[in-house]
Amino acid sequence: MHTLIPFILVVGTTLAPIAAGSSFSAADTQLTERDIGNFKAIAFASSISILSSARTNSSRCKAFPGDQSWPTADEWSRLNTTLGGVLLNPLPAASVCYPTSPAFNSAACNFLFTNASSTSFYLDDPLTSLNLWPQGNTCIASRTPTGNCTQGGYPVYVVNATSVKHVQAAVNFARNKNIRLVIKNTGHDSVGRNVGAGSLSVWTHYLRGFELLPSHKQPGVSYRGTAARVGSGLQVWDAFGQSARSNITLPAASCLTVGSYGGWFTGGGHSPLSSTYGLGVDQVLSLDVVTADGRYVTASPTANQDLFFAVRGGGGSTYGIVTSAIVKAHPSTNLTIASFTFTLNPSAPPTPVEAPSPAATIASSSAFWAGFNAVFAFGAPVADAGGYLWTNGIKVSNTSYLMQVRAQMVGISPPQAAAFVQPLLATLNALGIPVSITTPTTTVYAQQPNPSTGGGPGNSRFASRLFPRASWDNATLFNATMTAAREAVEAGYTFHGLNMSPTKKVAATGGELPLAGVNPVWRDAVMHADVFDTINMATATPAEADAANARLNGVMDKIRAATPGGGAYFNEAGGELEPDWQHSFFGTNYDKLLKVKRERDPWGVFWAPATVGSESWAVELAVQGGLKNQNGRLCRV
Ligand SMILES: Cc1cc2nc3c(=O)[nH]c(=O)nc-3n(C[C@H](O)[C@H](O)[C@H](O)COP(=O)(O)OP(=O)(O)OC[C@H]3O[C@@H](n4cnc5c(N)ncnc54)[C@H](O)[C@@H]3O)c2cc1C
Ligand SMILES: *[C@@H]1O[C@H](CO)[C@@H](O)[C@H](O)[C@H]1NC(C)=O
Ligand SMILES: *[C@@H]1O[C@H](CO)[C@@H](O)[C@H](O)[C@H]1NC(C)=O
Ligand SMILES: *[C@@H]1O[C@H](CO)[C@@H](O)[C@H](O)[C@H]1NC(C)=O
Ligand SMILES: *[C@@H]1O[C@H](CO)[C@@H](O)[C@H](O)[C@H]1NC(C)=O
Ligand SMILES: *[C@@H]1O[C@H](CO)[C@@H](O)[C@H](O)[C@H]1NC(C)=O
Ligand SMILES: *[C@@H]1O[C@H](CO)[C@@H](O)[C@H](O)[C@H]1NC(C)=O
Ligand SMILES: *[C@@H]1O[C@H](CO)[C@@H](O)[C@H](O)[C@H]1NC(C)=O
Ligand SMILES: *[C@@H]1O[C@H](CO)[C@@H](O)[C@H](O)[C@H]1NC(C)=O
Ligand SMILES: *[C@@H]1O[C@H](CO)[C@@H](O)[C@H](O)[C@H]1NC(C)=O
Ligand SMILES: *[C@@H]1O[C@H](CO)[C@@H](O)[C@H](O)[C@H]1NC(C)=O
Repeated sequence: MHTLIPFILVVGTTLAPIAAGSSFSAADTQLTERDIGNFKAIAFASSISILSSARTNSSRCKAFPGDQSWPTADEWSRLNTTLGGVLLNPLPAASVCYPTSPAFNSAACNFLFTNASSTSFYLDDPLTSLNLWPQGNTCIASRTPTGNCTQGGYPVYVVNATSVKHVQAAVNFARNKNIRLVIKNTGHDSVGRNVGAGSLSVWTHYLRGFELLPSHKQPGVSYRGTAARVGSGLQVWDAFGQSARSNITLPAASCLTVGSYGGWFTGGGHSPLSSTYGLGVDQVLSLDVVTADGRYVTASPTANQDLFFAVRGGGGSTYGIVTSAIVKAHPSTNLTIASFTFTLNPSAPPTPVEAPSPAATIASSSAFWAGFNAVFAFGAPVADAGGYLWTNGIKVSNTSYLMQVRAQMVGISPPQAAAFVQPLLATLNALGIPVSITTPTTTVYAQQPNPSTGGGPGNSRFASRLFPRASWDNATLFNATMTAAREAVEAGYTFHGLNMSPTKKVAATGGELPLAGVNPVWRDAVMHADVFDTINMATATPAEADAANARLNGVMDKIRAATPGGGAYFNEAGGELEPDWQHSFFGTNYDKLLKVKRERDPWGVFWAPATVGSESWAVELAVQGGLKNQNGRLCRV
């Protein structure tokens, strides 16, 4: 879940401020024939379909700056005028550190090192992707930079969208002019789905509307009662601020800077409430989407059902640009967390068995790994009780290991949570691990402290797995699973487990919805786990990156072998490096999703790596090897 610092603790105590401009009135403005006038470059697909398909058919690649077919400065300027001036051509944030850049400014460069991570600087930057390598590492922040800063895989132009009209004009222009289009919201995606060289980016960050719908009713939907209309740019902290004021619960990612209604829910979206209320996709009653033809449509159980299926878990950046959604609003509830750690360290004083501690130290390796297994075994009962077991297995040194455990329970009191984890503590104590807990903490879910700021970008990678229940129920498979997880930790990877069960039954809480495009493996899963590598992609050579990929895949293959019928969570995984990613990420829904993609986007307007239908295109890179980044032309395969 956290690519950069996997076990970060979110700090801060302030309640999020009210989002600016929460009304939808301006955001709902659409592109009209009058706006288009004689500027055919932003016309809808239906009116010039023959012209546009001829153009895309005749060129193997998307247009690139410098090409004859790249729009002229006048055309970009005219687009900007139609957009009311929200077209940006930003330089990379770190350009201020490069003496050869026109933006060079040593104070601004210093700010990146001293202040940026304690502000929302990177989250409010139009280009930054929070994992840097997909951009090609062509402009790394450094106090002593070498070489020049170039745009690399970052977009050339960005539409700072605040209305449906802005999104429609951008989609039409990109399609008609054969320009690569990318969509960026917060930039949390870790494999480059939010960047692309030579592209026009639609930046959804400021589509931040919020409206409480106290007695929502909708044809074809059995859910009745409180719902909310949400803009696709809302971040978790923002949606929480609105929820706290409205006394409701909107399930969301644990990291409060993630975008709830952009990448998170279109890719599935798990949360500490997933075993109680299901995934992000299970919250959605209706969607407002700009499709590849430039049209603005509503997708619901009774309209555009194909899109309603596909967008709910079939991946972001694939079928259209979501501008807003209507989601279930659950009653206010508390999240109650019981935490402890235990450390294997033969050279440190062990915790006395008669005085258990919330941070126990032990000397026995066999006890540590037996405790490791016991914690994960307890993940199933936590999930079955509606909770979320958060763990990290970490190699501290060749002889020392750390296990971090947080049982996150929904709607129960601290004494109840303490009683709930007692059997696990008893098991660990019996194994010779003298662990205890302090009083569990409790917080109204929507009032989790968060400063709405977030650290700086990282430069690494990870892989993940969705673990089916059979691998917990079958002792042979469970043993093999735990052996493989242990080997991952011993090899130096952080094993970040999240036990949860977003079953069909909990997904239907408040009202069942038609089948969603999300990987069906989620419905029978008992854990999602990330396996974090420490490779620094800024300094790795392509050969080193290849070797690291092979090593990580070797570790993952053992985990995969122990979890037949599993898969991987599209939003938190290795992208194209996941073997057979189509079925790992989308399971048996893949073919149906591909059909929707082909029908809705025959032009290939939307493209991002390892998304449905992305096999038809590839980024052509100067240097192959290592990790395929986005710093190259996008061409048909
Ligand atoms: C620190 C951290 C913590 C995380 N924690 C969790 C967690 O607790 N639970 C969880 O499930 N996931 C978690 N994730 C993964 C997260 O859900 C994904 O990275 C998600 O894709 C982020 O979406 P975004 O819109 O914020 O980011 P972006 O990177 O801006 O967008 C992600 C993808 O969605 C597309 N997209 C964005 N907006 C739209 C839109 N309006 N319409 C169509 N496509 C769109 C983008 O093009 C891109 O492909 C975490 C990630 C990080 C880095
Ligand atoms: C390419 O052109 C053919 C007809 O010449 C058309 O049927 C097809 O839809 C076009 N493909 C795309 C992707 O526009
Ligand atoms: C778009 O127009 C605005 C307002 O006139 C201007 O500030 C901005 O620089 C323009 N964008 C580009 C890319 O030229
Ligand atoms: C950076 O942070 C320091 C310490 O918090 C503060 O004094 C300073 O004003 C900040 N600088 C900028 C440019 O925000
Ligand atoms: C860096 O930029 C400078 C100034 O634009 C240019 O003279 C120089 O050749 C560039 N260096 C490289 C390695 O591209
Ligand atoms: C993007 O638009 C928002 C809303 O109008 C504005 O607050 C913000 O400053 C703009 N960002 C940039 C980089 O222009
Ligand atoms: C908030 O909602 C909860 C759960 O429905 C309810 O018990 C509580 O009374 C509500 N609080 C307020 C202030 O309305
Ligand atoms: C840890 O083990 C590895 C592999 O056996 C070895 O190469 C390394 O030197 C060891 N490190 C220390 C600090 O002993
Ligand atoms: C929920 O958490 C709040 C603190 O945010 C606390 O004041 C309240 O007592 C808790 N409610 C329950 C039912 O535990
Ligand atoms: C448990 O899994 C193993 C390995 O896949 C299999 O051979 C065995 O039949 C399974 N046992 C049960 C009871 O399903
Ligand atoms: C579990 O796996 C380990 C390592 O492969 C093996 O030594 C042990 O015998 C297995 N235990 C059971 C109960 O299958």
